Amino acid sequence: MANTSHPIVPRHIAIIMDGNGRWAADRGLPRSAGHKQGIEALRRTVKTAGDLGVEVLTIYSFSTENWKRPKTEVVFLLDLFRRFMRQDVAELHASGVKIKMIGERQGLEKPLVKMIDDAEKLTVNNTGMILIVAFNYGGRQELAKAMRHVAEDVVKGRLALDDISQDCLAARLDTSGYPDPDLMIRTGGEMRISNFLLWQSAYTEFVFMQEYWPDFDGVLLQKAITTFQNRERRFGGLKVQSA
Ligand code: IPE
Ligand code: IPE
Ligand code: MG
Repeated sequence: MANTSHPIVPRHIAIIMDGNGRWAADRGLPRSAGHKQGIEALRRTVKTAGDLGVEVLTIYSFSTENWKRPKTEVVFLLDLFRRFMRQDVAELHASGVKIKMIGERQGLEKPLVKMIDDAEKLTVNNTGMILIVAFNYGGRQELAKAMRHVAEDVVKGRLALDDISQDCLAARLDTSGYPDPDLMIRTGGEMRISNFLLWQSAYTEFVFMQEYWPDFDGVLLQKAITTFQNRERRFGGLKVQSA
């Protein structure tokens, strides 16, 4: 019989860190203050997730659609990302975290891409938690890119049409080699996926929370994990009967 029982903690947690702007607006502050405070929530979350034994933590930090925001906000977000990389990568490395970026690098400014490459290279042999940072990421774009790669392999004769499979596509996604998320948390009260991990979340458990991202902490993470642990995952099969 298939074993569908939950591990104590989900192996892979993905988070849509939403609500920074509203957190700031509630306090009469500019949206940027919410983004800044969001970094503190991220630091707390990485630490707690690592302590809990989460294997992979994926965070949605900038979507391919977020370029639509006012230029000043985009510039601020890019700057915050750069600052996070400069200030936090060394410490993440020291605590054994392995950093991996997903998303489109083409079109990003060169120094930023170099920072991303350097962080990945520096931490590549670390054996602690894997932190996947989704930056300039869009699920549909990722799928389209994977399909282009499949098509290229077919055209070049490296792959037969009949051999195109789910695994073929999954292997060409940015997340290739990592398990699908077990739990996806979205803060900020919206109940949508906003182009995040479309393929990978086929059987992910979703937990939506009202709290804004800057207020997120270990207690809320634990609350989401407890909700997850009380879910019954069936993957299209039937409830597992106890023996
Ligand atoms: C999430 O907070 C951060 C990013 C999308 C980069 P928002 O900036 O979306 O905050 P709200 O949803 O407007 O409150
Ligand atoms: C999703 O939040 C993207 C990130 C958290 C990086 P958005 O605030 O961009 O999503 P929508 O626009 O409300 O769907
Ligand atoms: Mg938002």
